[in-house]
Amino acid sequence: MKVVVIQGPNLNMLGVREQHIYGAMKLEHIHAQMKDFASQSGLEIEFFQSNLEGEIVDKIQECYGDANGIIINAAAYTHTSIAIRDAISAVNLPTIEVHISNIYRREDFRKQNMIAPVCSSSIVGFGPFGYHLAMVGMVQVLNEIKAVQEMQKQQAV
Ligand code: DQA
Repeated sequence: MKVVVIQGPNLNMLGVREQHIYGAMKLEHIHAQMKDFASQSGLEIEFFQSNLEGEIVDKIQECYGDANGIIINAAAYTHTSIAIRDAISAVNLPTIEVHISNIYRREDFRKQNMIAPVCSSSIVGFGPFGYHLAMVGMVQVLNEIKAVQEMQKQQAV
């Protein structure tokens, strides 16, 4: 089972940008923790960060047939990108959206969320710990899918 973690614009600046909002942890550190959790859970994991909308769309499309689930923080594109929303919808994989900050307590423009309606679930406002919660959630979702598939297989015999 493979999970792809997609990080949007400016998340490569974590640990530097607005620490009072996003905390002091660098992206590499967050990814190292996710990698540890993935190996404990027997999951393959891949990380991708881009500041470019089209590259994020390409990466989501690449997940089709290659990954079992996506964890995405589309960052500022969350509030504007119909292209990213359509790509998530197109690949139709279990997708968990993460936001480090609570976007619903911030500026009004952050309350518009293009991505959430096509995601399985959203984790918002837990700081960098939200990525760990997303991993726990993904393991649960993938196990449920596996259980349903096994049941269907048995019923077919
Ligand atoms: C963010 C919230 C977005 O509004 C913002 O543009 C980001 C990060 C978050 O993780 O809290 O870049 O997605």
